[in-house]
Amino acid sequence: MKKLMLVAAGIVMATGMATAHAGDVEAGEAKYAASGCVGCHGPTGQGQAIFPKVAGSDAERLADTLTKYRAGETVGPNSAMMMPHAMNLSDEDIANLAAYMASLE
Ligand code: HEC
Repeated sequence: MKKLMLVAAGIVMATGMATAHAGDVEAGEAKYAASGCVGCHGPTGQGQAIFPKVAGSDAERLADTLTKYRAGETVGPNSAMMMPHAMNLSDEDIANLAAYMASLE
């Protein structure tokens, strides 16, 4: 039984580490403010009018969508507004931003 608990603890730790590696929420928050994302998507990521809500979405999907904008791919009807803001993001920026937006409600 004790051995089983240790194995379970190991799995929890490994999962936690994988999540931390996927994106740094604090770095994402700083980037979100510094890159002007806040101006369109709002301080809590709730969006407004034509600016979609980004809070609480799946981090993987957010990162995937940002990668498409960065590549100049059309995602929705207003992608042209979003592309310039994704153009200069690094893979790390995208992972951090996605983790931050996913952490919002
Ligand atoms: C000038 C306003 C503006 C700024 C600044 C902006 N966005 Fe956007 N964003 C949009 C619009 C408009 C869309 C919808 C585009 C479409 O129709 O494909 C969008 C879409 C998105 C989406 C996809 C949402 C979804 O669920 O499909 C994400 C994620 C996103 N923005 C993140 C960001 C991040 C991160 C930043 C800062 C680096 C940022 N945006 C800056 C206007 C903006």
